[in-house]
Order: sequence, then structure tokens, then C-alpha cells
Amino acid sequence: MRKKIVAGNWKMNTSLSEGVRLIDEIKTIINQQSIKPNCEIIVGVPFTHIYAISQNLKETSIFVSAQNCSEHEKGAYTGEVSASMIKSVGASFCILGHSERRQYHAETDEIIGKKIELALKNNLTPIFCCGETLEIRENNTYFKLVNSQIENALFNLSDEEFSKIIIAYEPVWAIGTGLTASPQQAQEMHYNIRELVGSKYGNNIAHNLSILYGGSCKPSNAKELFSNPDVDGGLIGGASLKANDFVEIIKSM
Ligand code: 13P
Repeated sequence: MRKKIVAGNWKMNTSLSEGVRLIDEIKTIINQQSIKPNCEIIVGVPFTHIYAISQNLKETSIFVSAQNCSEHEKGAYTGEVSASMIKSVGASFCILGHSERRQYHAETDEIIGKKIELALKNNLTPIFCCGETLEIRENNTYFKLVNSQIENALFNLSDEEFSKIIIAYEPVWAIGTGLTASPQQAQEMHYNIRELVGSKYGNNIAHNLSILYGGSCKPSNAKELFSNPDVDGGLIGGASLKANDFVEIIKSM
């Protein structure tokens, strides 16, 4: 079902005690202000924090996400963390295909596709990231690029599998740069993604797909971005590390 979602991506930040403190602050602000969120809230924390933070959030409606998983099921892959391990410590979501993984860890659409399948097999909801670099934006091939990322990594899924996916459009030029896609730029890409999904999986599945925007989303621009018909929420990096900012973004929904 199509949901409104605000998800934080902490990336490689916070010690465990800092992470728990951040969660406690978020919960306190939500309680003190008696906020009844209009959206699902997810925090994408480092692997090392998943168990403790899932336990901490047990009595709340905030969900925990991993930021990656291995493309292998199990075995001799030193240093890797499998989807089943992530599930076993309490996460319900897994961010996959983030541009930082594509850029610094050479993840291809094919590898990301394998991770998506393993996440689904282990009942983790994939938050699949796509988005173009500045060069692609400037040479006007961004629709083509984003469509190919989605087709290559996701379009071998069955209808039932695809219905479980969340897509996050994150233009690389807007990540951590302070530059944000304009509400029009976000809306036209999200609309394009929904059309593409509709052409493959039909209007019903496309209509029910949650498409999040990510890239320098903050309290000052969240409301305008979220007010677009095809923008179902946000994947928040830097601003998710500040409890007040993250809650303000949740309130923008
Ligand atoms: P920023 O919000 O820091 O630009 O990061 C966005 C992002 O990459 C979320 O996954």
C-alpha cells in the first residue's frame, strides 16, 4: 500500500551511545510535542546499532533499517553482513543501491538486483535508491539513466515482489551538497518513475508505490517537496542526525 514515509539514513555516523541518545531525543520530542505523525518513520542505522536500537524502539512505531546487505546468502565472505543476519537483529527495512555504494563500492545494477532479491527473501523491505550525477543532469539524459537503474535492478521481480519495494530518488548532485532538487524537478522525476513502473507492472502497483525524495532535504524545504502529488516522503541524510531537524521534517508531512 502506498505510504507516506520519512526515513533517516545515518550513513557511517554515531557511536552506539550517540545513536541511542539521538533516538532517545527523537522519542522525547515526539512525546513532548504530542506529535501524531502522518507518516511511517524509519531510521537507517549502522549494522552495529541495529540490535540495540530495535530493542529501544520496540514499544514505538518507529522502524529500523539497515543501509546495505551482502549480495550473498551466507558463507566465506569475510566482513560481509547477510540479509538474514540483519533481519535476525530486528531491522525491517534495508536501503539498497545508495549512490555512495555505487560510487565507492563499485555496486552495479546487477549486484543491487541480487541484494534486492535476498532482502525480499528475508522479509526486509528494500528502499531502492536511484539518481543521476550532475554530469548526467546537465547533458539531459537523467530520465534515461534513472529508468535504466530501475529496469536493470528491479524489473525481473514478480508483481508480488515489486509491490513490496520502496523507491528513493536521490539525485547525486543534491546529496550532502546543500543543493536540493526543486519541487518541480522532484515531481517530474517521481511522475516519470511511476509511469515507468505502471508500464511494466500496471497502474495499480504503480499507484501503490511509495517514492521518496533524498538529497539535502531539511526542515526548510521538506514541506514544499512533500506537497507534490508523486513525492511520498523523504530519505534524509545529514538532517536525520539532528533530532530537532528530523522531527521537523516528520511534521512537514
Ligand atoms: P543528505 O540529506 O545529507 O543530502 O543525504 C541524502 C542521502 O543520501 C540519504 O540517503
